[in-house]
Amino acid sequence: MELFQVKGKVCLVTGGGSGIGYGMALALVKHGAKVYICSRDMKKLQATADELTKRGPGSCYAIEADISKQENCKKVAEAIAAKETRLDVLVNNSGCVWGEALETFPDSAWDKVIGLNVKAVFNMTVACLSLLRAKATVDDPSHVINIGSIDGIRVPVLETYSYSASKAAVHQLTRTLANRLATDYILVNAVACGPFHSKMTKSTFEQFRDTILDGVALGRFGDNDDLEGMTIFLSSRASKYVTGAIIPLEGGVLIKANL
Ligand SMILES: NC(=O)c1ccc[n+]([C@@H]2O[C@H](COP(=O)([O-])OP(=O)(O)OC[C@H]3O[C@@H](n4cnc5c(N)ncnc54)[C@H](OP(=O)(O)O)[C@@H]3O)[C@@H](O)[C@H]2O)c1
Repeated sequence: MELFQVKGKVCLVTGGGSGIGYGMALALVKHGAKVYICSRDMKKLQATADELTKRGPGSCYAIEADISKQENCKKVAEAIAAKETRLDVLVNNSGCVWGEALETFPDSAWDKVIGLNVKAVFNMTVACLSLLRAKATVDDPSHVINIGSIDGIRVPVLETYSYSASKAAVHQLTRTLANRLATDYILVNAVACGPFHSKMTKSTFEQFRDTILDGVALGRFGDNDDLEGMTIFLSSRASKYVTGAIIPLEGGVLIKANL
């Protein structure tokens, strides 16, 4: 099989109906993969799946699920197992954020953010293990791609205490799972994203657009081309010697020198 080839691969992108997950699902469908997307808003999800299928050669299917609950991660894996004999690529992308002042930051913002951003990454990976193991080989491994963040590496600009802690946890979970699953030929990597337009970032970008762009060396937001390049690399044989890596996709936020 060609190096940068995902044609015919079976993929699951959590939160694939919007934002970064949408861009990654689109990339996979454009390159001929069969992509399942899951999240809570089934109406939106189904419309996105239909739209993506039209943009094929690949195809896209919607599964309704609130994956913050472990039993729902299992249900998503069972729904895929009912139709497929394997899963080649799992993108753990669904996530949420909470911003609030230190003094009033609520306990519930820890449960919500850690529950989705960290626990669901673990639960979905475990739920999909037998599908991920099914056809993985040293020459054509399966891939788990976790969506991390620059805010899990540097100190965040805003007061998003549970979010930045959750993304640092995702990075470390990525390394731990990569070590544990290497002998199953399942590669586990994280993409530390910088600023991309999405539902989650809409109001923040409206308020702080110039400040945010000042902090990006390349001076722009990320786009679907940027997601496509990274997604095809990390989903294909091109990355078969890469595991446990936290790969920045952030236009140089982390190397921007401040005068
Ligand atoms: N955009 C950025 O600048 C940026 C930067 C760094 C990292 N990230 C990360 O990128 C990922 C995607 O975020 P985004 O920016 O693209 O925002 P987004 O468009 O709001 O995407 C979040 C996705 O998660 C899904 N989701 C939320 N709660 C869920 C639940 N309980 N169960 C299943 N799915 C759920 C949402 O779908 P439903 O509402 O239908 O459930 C939505 O599709 C997140 O992990 C985020 O932390 C984003």
